[in-house]
Amino acid sequence: MTMNLHLIIPLSLSLCLLDLLIRSRPDVFVLVGGSSVPYPCSPPYASFNFCDTSLPVNNRVSDLVSMLTLDEKVMQLVNKAAGISRLGIPPYEWWSEALHGVSNTGPGTTFGGAVPGAVSFPQVILSAASFNVSLWKAIGQVVSTEGRAMYNEGHSGLTFWSPNINIYRDPRWGRGQETPGEDPYLSSEYAVNFVRGLQDVDGDSSDRLKVAACCKHYTAYDLDNWQGVDRFHFNAEVTEQDLDDTYQPPFKNCLVNGNAACIMCSYNRVNGVPSCVDKNLLIGTVREQWGLNGYVVSDCDSVEVLYDSIHYTQSPVDAVADSILAGLNLNCGNFLASYTAKAVAQGKLSESKVDESLSYLYTVLMRLGYFDGDPSSQMHFGSLSASDVCTVEHRELALDAARQGIVLLKNNATNGLPLSQPTIKTLAVIGPNVNVTSTMIGNYAGIPCKYTTPFEGLASYGAKVLYEPGCSNVACTSSSMIDAAVKAADVADAVVLIMGLDQSQEREGLDRKSLSFPGHQTDLIMQVANSSKGTNKPISLVIMSGGPVDVGFAVNLSEISSILWVGYPGEAGGQAIAEVIYGDYNPAGRLPMSWYPESYTELQMTDMHMRPDPTRGYPGRTYRFYNKGDTIYEFGYGLSFTTFSHTKLSAPSQIFLHDQQNIDSSQTSEHGQEVLLEEVQCASSNFNVKLGVKNMGSIKGDHVVMVFWHASKAITSKGAPKKQLMAFERIHGLYPQEEAEVVFKLSACEHLSYVGKDGRKLLAIGVQKISVGDIEHHVHVHHHRNSPNL
Ligand SMILES: *[C@@H]1O[C@H](CO)[C@@H](O)[C@H](O)[C@H]1NC(C)=O
Ligand SMILES: *[C@@H]1O[C@H](CO)[C@@H](O)[C@H](O)[C@H]1NC(C)=O
Ligand SMILES: *[C@@H]1O[C@H](CO)[C@@H](O)[C@H](O)[C@H]1NC(C)=O
Ligand SMILES: *[C@@H]1O[C@H](CO)[C@@H](O)[C@H](O)[C@H]1NC(C)=O
Ligand SMILES: *[C@@H]1O[C@H](CO)[C@@H](O)[C@H](O)[C@H]1NC(C)=O
Repeated sequence: MTMNLHLIIPLSLSLCLLDLLIRSRPDVFVLVGGSSVPYPCSPPYASFNFCDTSLPVNNRVSDLVSMLTLDEKVMQLVNKAAGISRLGIPPYEWWSEALHGVSNTGPGTTFGGAVPGAVSFPQVILSAASFNVSLWKAIGQVVSTEGRAMYNEGHSGLTFWSPNINIYRDPRWGRGQETPGEDPYLSSEYAVNFVRGLQDVDGDSSDRLKVAACCKHYTAYDLDNWQGVDRFHFNAEVTEQDLDDTYQPPFKNCLVNGNAACIMCSYNRVNGVPSCVDKNLLIGTVREQWGLNGYVVSDCDSVEVLYDSIHYTQSPVDAVADSILAGLNLNCGNFLASYTAKAVAQGKLSESKVDESLSYLYTVLMRLGYFDGDPSSQMHFGSLSASDVCTVEHRELALDAARQGIVLLKNNATNGLPLSQPTIKTLAVIGPNVNVTSTMIGNYAGIPCKYTTPFEGLASYGAKVLYEPGCSNVACTSSSMIDAAVKAADVADAVVLIMGLDQSQEREGLDRKSLSFPGHQTDLIMQVANSSKGTNKPISLVIMSGGPVDVGFAVNLSEISSILWVGYPGEAGGQAIAEVIYGDYNPAGRLPMSWYPESYTELQMTDMHMRPDPTRGYPGRTYRFYNKGDTIYEFGYGLSFTTFSHTKLSAPSQIFLHDQQNIDSSQTSEHGQEVLLEEVQCASSNFNVKLGVKNMGSIKGDHVVMVFWHASKAITSKGAPKKQLMAFERIHGLYPQEEAEVVFKLSACEHLSYVGKDGRKLLAIGVQKISVGDIEHHVHVHHHRNSPNL
């Protein structure tokens, strides 16, 4: 099969051109036909009914759609929606991005002039490690404030295609950095809070949107390019069980609880069907079951891909007709503009289906206030301007997000962190990621307000800094700079090695082949450690990366006194790293993904099964299922400079489940270990666990408590996860000896259940093991059939 790479390369080239064109765009849109208007519904066009803000949105939308010709309509179905000059509607670019700050990855957003940059938060995988739901929401709020301000300045659209909430199933995935990690519950919580931060208008009970978010990439997309299999050609073979309890929950929550205004279908096929033409996945699940209040957009060119690359349809017209009929509303790309009118003319699609898509699209724009006239005179957000971008408060939040996410992986009590500032006269700072800027913001970033590099952060603490990169870049193909680095380490009082990855190793379109440090990085670390043998010198290994690396050798080296994972920590990352190293901030982040040894790479990345399969020696995926026992650091791992004790204050030892009224006892579904969830009254399954937490050390710190369910062997053999996150809570700033209480509101239906092989939910009964911090608790879930009605 020929790979249609030519299809992809021209796209990215044309994007660069587009970018240039947009950068030089004047503040006033010049429309085809000669007239120019700055915004829709500007005088003299403000008298159309669709501009009348006193009318209900659906009336305004149907008024607008009714005025368009078919040729005008089809030009609205693509990201670069054409202007309609006779109605005073300027062109609209739907494609803006804001994964962790307003980004210029999409052509809808530009930097320059009044807006030279915007806050660049840590890459999502590090913010996820904070396990702080209010942080995720606060980030969304800042990003949407800056996005809205940039829109008012003519520098951004209002529709952002973020977040990326695919499950980080395989540590090699180049885009794992963009996601909140490997756990469906964590990803769901991240999605809901980030999306609410982006979209919600405080104090507004209507359907109004601050900006529109988009949950992507739907669904089972987590492979970019591995051993010749690329995302355009990949057919993800996914069981019903894995789809329902792993791949789908983040999307369901993003729409149902986050109320996201958009979902993006992915490039890949799911069980043979490209997701953008899958009517079950789009209309069936997204529209009908989850009630999407918004639009479905294709990933960029994925309608083209399903025709050109895999010939799923006979013709481009069929690709377009089938995808619209399946529930697609907007095409990132150009196929829908080119072929929709033909599809209607050939009778493959009715014009009313086109109108339906337009209604979804215009409803979102109406909810955003796009048709409410002059942006700068609007009641909501009209006053936001360039001075609301890169404010001190916004930049401080980026710094705080980096602090909250950083994970302490190893720390020797004798000579580990924090470094004691007065005793460190000379600090050797070594590694290819010491003096980096753009590495810290990862991909889908913009232009940051201001960088603080790790070098600058560490140098600000006053010790004499000896900087040796050790390698010329992260690929580290030569060992020629290692000697100089070892010499610097030898004469220093302490050493900080800042190693890891960057976008040359992991990115969109590039999955890793290896989990090891690239090139000679391992030699560099080993030689620095070796040379300090017997000196007790603190050597801190800082790993800057999105994905996990095989750090097993350094965990074992007693000379490496501490290890930190700092993700891609955003524009202020260097300061956060230095604050942690010198003890001005006590780290409390936890890993949102498991770390494995290099031997993990024997697994086929294309194998989407979450559950282990002993018959073929397949170990399963993520901490919920992986059973090989050689994980280096498991999901949820992370240390502190202090220690916390946990006390069980209250938790039930028994739960009694009641059946739904209409259950027929003769048709019992009970197998002794579980019962069908739909047969149980879930209100009877609620229970609370109350925990006491105390800081036992001498340093103030935050603490993340996680509650896990550990299913019994009897049901893990049927597919229940061996361990499953039920709930989590970050506790802020506990002083030495201070105590706090946390109450977890749990439900057996929600938290002690799993998806059976047929996709139906099963509730575990019998004795269930729960762990909270380092405490174990057993709760007996009782279930008795209603006595038969006599
Ligand atoms: C969560 O993050 C917010 C925003 O930075 C912060 O104010 C709050 O203290 C954090 N919560 C906890 C429990 O650490
Ligand atoms: C860090 O990199 C910048 C830009 O490449 C360079 O100007 C600066 O001198 C470097 N800093 C150090 C300490 O080498
Ligand atoms: C460590 O040092 C010893 C002797 O000091 C040497 O034999 C060994 O090869 C060194 N190992 C590494 C990895 O540099
Ligand atoms: C680390 O040490 C453990 C225990 O001695 C050993 O089993 C493991 O293989 C070592 N790992 C590496 C990468 O050296
Ligand atoms: C901690 O550091 C001390 C001093 O260098 C060393 O003797 C000890 O072996 C280290 N402990 C571990 C577990 O590596």
